[in-house]
Amino acid sequence: MSKIRIALLGDIHANLEAFNAVMEKIKTLDVTHYVCIGDIVGYNANPKECLDMMRALNPVATVRGNHDEYVGTDQDLYGFNPSAAAAVTWTRALLNDEDRHYLATLPYSADVRIPGVPTFKIVHGTLDCPEKWGYIFRVRDAELSMENQRGFALCFFGHTHMPLFFVEKEGETQGFYFQQEVPITIEPNTKYLINVGSVGQPRDENPTAAFTIYTPDENKVELYRVEYDIQTCQQKIRDAGLPEKLAARLEIGR
Ligand SMILES: [Fe+2]
Repeated sequence: MSKIRIALLGDIHANLEAFNAVMEKIKTLDVTHYVCIGDIVGYNANPKECLDMMRALNPVATVRGNHDEYVGTDQDLYGFNPSAAAAVTWTRALLNDEDRHYLATLPYSADVRIPGVPTFKIVHGTLDCPEKWGYIFRVRDAELSMENQRGFALCFFGHTHMPLFFVEKEGETQGFYFQQEVPITIEPNTKYLINVGSVGQPRDENPTAAFTIYTPDENKVELYRVEYDIQTCQQKIRDAGLPEKLAARLEIGR
């Protein structure tokens, strides 16, 4: 039997060029399962293609991101910055009712059950209040989420577009940058809260697409970064009439 290798993809944000580059890399990694951490749509110009591609991967679990929720519903966009709101409005008009219903009915969090793998949790924002779309940047934010992680050793999240991870051992929590060169080793009696990075709009000043691979047999979680055709993605944003700011931020990774 082949070894279980789980690809965790989050914050794809309708960036087809980044998603394609990630899938090219994944083809070389013997991935057996997919998990989606949410925000499939929003910001960039290929929401339909990215949504169809994600669904075709038949992920074992998918959670709802804030952009998925706002695109899937008609909630007013108070609180969204103007360029993000413009993309949500544009995406609502582009997707069909079935697509929007799919996005609007995704769960806020999920327990991911794969035979032979310890059950782990996923959430887009925070486990303490997933529908409020809080951001986990600091240890205190992580602690609040991890209180709701209970018996689960592992939780993956997204939303900040910032690959950070938090480790709780003997009652103390520490935060670290998640780097491609330094895989995380899952140790016993330790709790982990790991951001999987953003496929379609990284914000850690590294513009390359990010995703995570979890190999349970090896107790290993790895971050991957891949280059993609940023210029084509930018051109599509401009051609769609979406705000220039959304194109410009991709090349600086902010
Ligand atoms: Fe996002």
